[in-house]
Amino acid sequence: MVGLGMIFDETYRPFFEQVHRDGLFRRDFGLVEVDLAAVATRTGSRAAKYLSLAPKPFANLVGDDAAERLAQSVDVVCVATPDDRHFAPAKAALAAGKHVLIEKPSVLSLAELDELQALAEKHGVLAKVVYHKLLDPDHKKLRTHVVEGNLKHVNNGYCSLLEPKSISMGQFAEWLSGRNPGTYVACHYTKLIDFSFGPDWKLARVGATGQRGLVGKADGSTWDSTQLQVTYTHPDGREAVFDIHTSWVTPDNFPGYVDQEVQFRFDNGVWAAHQRKRGVELTIEDRSPGEFKYTPNYHYNGTFVEPWGDRSQRGYGVEVIRRFFEEIAYVEHGATGDRDARLKAMRALRYNDLSADRNCVAIVQALEAILAEHAAGRPGSLAIVNGPHGGLVLEHAGSADRCVLYAPAV
Ligand SMILES: NC(=O)c1ccc[n+]([C@@H]2O[C@H](COP(=O)([O-])OP(=O)(O)OC[C@H]3O[C@@H](n4cnc5c(N)ncnc54)[C@H](O)[C@@H]3O)[C@@H](O)[C@H]2O)c1
Repeated sequence: MVGLGMIFDETYRPFFEQVHRDGLFRRDFGLVEVDLAAVATRTGSRAAKYLSLAPKPFANLVGDDAAERLAQSVDVVCVATPDDRHFAPAKAALAAGKHVLIEKPSVLSLAELDELQALAEKHGVLAKVVYHKLLDPDHKKLRTHVVEGNLKHVNNGYCSLLEPKSISMGQFAEWLSGRNPGTYVACHYTKLIDFSFGPDWKLARVGATGQRGLVGKADGSTWDSTQLQVTYTHPDGREAVFDIHTSWVTPDNFPGYVDQEVQFRFDNGVWAAHQRKRGVELTIEDRSPGEFKYTPNYHYNGTFVEPWGDRSQRGYGVEVIRRFFEEIAYVEHGATGDRDARLKAMRALRYNDLSADRNCVAIVQALEAILAEHAAGRPGSLAIVNGPHGGLVLEHAGSADRCVLYAPAV
């Protein structure tokens, strides 16, 4: 495990503890043992704290070469460092011939994606990315309606994900400088859109803007909020446009921890969902909304006392990590076919394979470049995808200048 922060606590830790207790079993690969063997972090302090609670000891590696040393000593590497620090540990792991799971967004540029994909190919291992919202039951049902032809031809949509100030000003304060909430969370929705309504369409354009002044300077490069607009072209030539709004500056006493909303409009229907308001409301005197939110979401990750007395922690955030380990167990220990065939089958899964993350990485790379231009005093750039001048090209507002971000086709 590289990085031991919030997402480790919410999803990886419960998975590792469950799998340590119960093993990983499926009839097609039998019983497979999965152990948290080593952890690489910046300071080692959170790992030291967890060592005293963990069901089994693990190596606590620190230092600049910790991720490389870790890659030598394990079979599988999970990367959960801040998003601009995913590439180096993922590359070290793949270069050592190890399967890799990377938190979203996988990497911040198509050149990095190419490099990781080539290493995974060369060493015959899986390179996958976690977009756990694809496993949210509401989003599974949305996709089911699309696959079954009930919802036809998406035309436009709006998604938003708003995080509290405690995230930007507390939890992430150490690495937030120069970063933006769009890269951090808009990618959940770019993946939902790209996966649910693709792959037979083409990414066409990416635009973005944002606001500053709360977590950083009003003219600086650290963003409070971003608004991203992504345009696709359907095979019939009609366009579909999606607006994705994100921020990490909502008040800490907001009724729910994270506000999340999606709306998609089709030729024959509308899907509108609010992921925070799932129907449960709770108030506890003197403890809401600080400790216990008024509108809790237990679908992602809830801690429960089961009717039979056990304590558990589960939800789609944990389910997606288990599924990744099942895919590896199938490749390495599956009873049917040969390893190459099993590897090919797992790589063909578009929901999490790095090879199917090209549009999402292109969108993130465009967003980062547009915001950098904006911070440098040139707002309003637009990224054109697979146009006459290259795969990903930034056109600057009011100027004939352009900047090729990625020359080959996206
Ligand atoms: N899937 C989701 O919904 C979701 C939710 C939260 C975070 N995430 C992703 O998980 C990743 C981590 O987020 P988080 O919330 O856990 O952040 P965090 O700030 O809570 O934790 C980051 C961890 O990475 C470690 N770290 C930082 N730089 C490092 C380096 N160079 N080498 C090794 N370790 C390093 C820190 O010591 C810390 O343990 C991000 O990519 C984020 O986008 C995903």
